[in-house]
Amino acid sequence: KILILDFGSQYTQLIARRVRELNVYCEIHPYNHFPALDSSVKGVILSGSPFSVRDKDAPVPDLETIKGKVPLLGVCYGAQFLSHYYGGEVKASNSREYGRAKLTHVVDDDPLFHTISHQSQVWMSHGDTIVSIPDSYSIVASTHDVKVAGYKIADEQTWGIQFHPEVYHSTEGLQLLKNFVAGICGCSMDWTPASYVETTVNSLREQLGNDKVILALSGGVDSTVAGVLLQKAIGDNLTCIFVDNGLLRKDEFNNVMEAYKILGLNVIGVDARHKFWNDLKGETDPEGKRKIIGRDFIEVFDVEAHKIQDVKWLAQGTIYPDVIESVSVNGPSATIKSHHNVGGLPEKMNLKVVEPLRLLFKDEVRRVGRQLEIPAMFLDRHPFPGPGLGIRILGEVTEEKVALLQEADHIFIQGLRDADLYKDVWQAGVMLLPVQSVGVMGDERTYEYVVALRAVTSTDGMTADWAHLPYEFLAKVSNDIINKVRGINRVVYDISSKPPATIEWE
Ligand code: XMP
Repeated sequence: KILILDFGSQYTQLIARRVRELNVYCEIHPYNHFPALDSSVKGVILSGSPFSVRDKDAPVPDLETIKGKVPLLGVCYGAQFLSHYYGGEVKASNSREYGRAKLTHVVDDDPLFHTISHQSQVWMSHGDTIVSIPDSYSIVASTHDVKVAGYKIADEQTWGIQFHPEVYHSTEGLQLLKNFVAGICGCSMDWTPASYVETTVNSLREQLGNDKVILALSGGVDSTVAGVLLQKAIGDNLTCIFVDNGLLRKDEFNNVMEAYKILGLNVIGVDARHKFWNDLKGETDPEGKRKIIGRDFIEVFDVEAHKIQDVKWLAQGTIYPDVIESVSVNGPSATIKSHHNVGGLPEKMNLKVVEPLRLLFKDEVRRVGRQLEIPAMFLDRHPFPGPGLGIRILGEVTEEKVALLQEADHIFIQGLRDADLYKDVWQAGVMLLPVQSVGVMGDERTYEYVVALRAVTSTDGMTADWAHLPYEFLAKVSNDIINKVRGINRVVYDISSKPPATIEWE
């Protein structure tokens, strides 16, 4: 495997995803908190950073056990650090170098640049430049503005590159990373979805033996893939629980239950709708609603879990971005924050936790899902928040409002599918606003609810743009909702991006 030492760059995860696209397993660790190297570590990559090496509190890794011992590639800050710390000079660039650049010079027989064309386009993003390198370093690549775009250290397998090979705009970046991980480090590129399924199923069998495991299914990608993997490993020792909290989409509970059965999962469906609706009565505060929904879920799950004898394990669909320790770039010193077990169920259940997806990025969960032949209905679906329609009904949630919103939401989502727009959108839904407005139908004035359609494009939900859906499509959805859903007489479209708006309205 490859270790990636993180200095807090926004691109660190992208480096990891690119390396994994090459079917090479890699892990991200904070620069000041990484595991001891053993023979499984074939090479190390140093990431970029929002810091300058000249900053007083710039991150300084201890590379004693790494540099000169295993192949090492410094990217951006990583390259600047390897130069600055060992006697080179790094200065602020006259102009911030940002964007596309072309290589103007590449050393022919350098293994890192093997087959990379001499005028290859690369992506720069840095405010500092390496102006001189230590004596034992030699330049292997330059651009017009950046003389030291790539260097190699003599007598060691250590390289530094100023540009970002992980970014799509570095057109041969993936080849460069391949040269490093496969060519220089000798990784075998066999970490595929098929091999992941095989090794995970085997290790789950070993870890769980004949123990019983429970898993909360949500209908989403992660819990479904986790369920199918576990089912493959331990069969009916896995019990899945799927709770109808009364805040799911129209027909979602029945459709998903059916599909789970076809997948062969041992699943218990719990109708807890009235409990949730009752407990939500009178609550209008978004965080208050979230708390109630979260608490009720745990209560319902706990009751069901106790009906099964001798359960020892709780399975969770935690994925890799949830477990990566992140480098804080705000604190005075780089402090480490870890977010293990996000959204975990309470300790009091006294169960050990098993997380079969904790090594995978979201796109890899989907690839593993495809390998397991899980239908697209699960793998390609948009994210849906845990509190469901509860945070899309602004203000108080009632059974009647849920029914109203389910109808409107169904028209919108089904419309997206029918118009072949579903896959162009990252997430979509309808918000039921707590206002009524005047309308006219036939000869009568109406006074009914307003809904807002929300559809966004995004890659990870952290930032999002409103989806530029065709007017004709929006017109049809608006008409359908107003004509078919009694109680709604006005439809608006949300054209705010995140930030500063959020995807959900609550
Ligand atoms: P926002 O509204 O913060 O949403 O832009 C970003 C993503 O997170 C989802 N979301 C939630 N998911 N529990 C969840 O499980 C929540 O309380 C919650 N709030 C927002 C939202 O649907 C979007 O995908």
